[in-house]
Amino acid sequence: MKGRSLLLLTMTLAASSASFAQTPPSPGQMKPVAYKVVDGNKVDSDTLQGWKTWRALACERCHGAKQEGMVGPSLIDAFKTLDKNEFHRTVFGGRVDKGMPDFSASQMMQKNWENLYAYLKGRSDGKINPGDLQSIDAK
Ligand code: HEC
Repeated sequence: MKGRSLLLLTMTLAASSASFAQTPPSPGQMKPVAYKVVDGNKVDSDTLQGWKTWRALACERCHGAKQEGMVGPSLIDAFKTLDKNEFHRTVFGGRVDKGMPDFSASQMMQKNWENLYAYLKGRSDGKINPGDLQSIDAK
């Protein structure tokens, strides 16, 4: 456990010394996971950003368009138990030796990782449909 928190601290320090406007908050400051969904395909704007991040970074190449798993594991299953800290560790650092890339250089990921977590949680909960999403506010 000690090694893990040290690693996170190092990552947080590295991120905050970089010149990005948004850096991933340390796990201690995380806001609770929240997504809003109507009719399965209309979501709040944060969750929409999470879905756009999923698309932009092409996670489906390995995890499948419906998060059902391909080369990488099913995230529907993984998100039954994966907490935010573990998700954070996985995308910021990756598990490169096992084929999961490191997305820490992506500004979109830095900005939206919590939104992406919320989106994937909604998928895993069966509340958000696979495929395209719209904003709840869209006419
Ligand atoms: C090049 C293929 C590839 C891409 C692209 C990829 N992943 Fe992965 N991912 C993997 C593999 C392989 C694993 C399993 C690693 C292991 O065995 O621990 C994994 C594991 C994970 C896990 C941990 C699952 C668990 O059960 O603990 C999460 C979460 C995850 N990926 C999210 C993402 C997200 C989000 C993206 C897009 C930003 C993404 N991945 C893109 C290959 C990929």
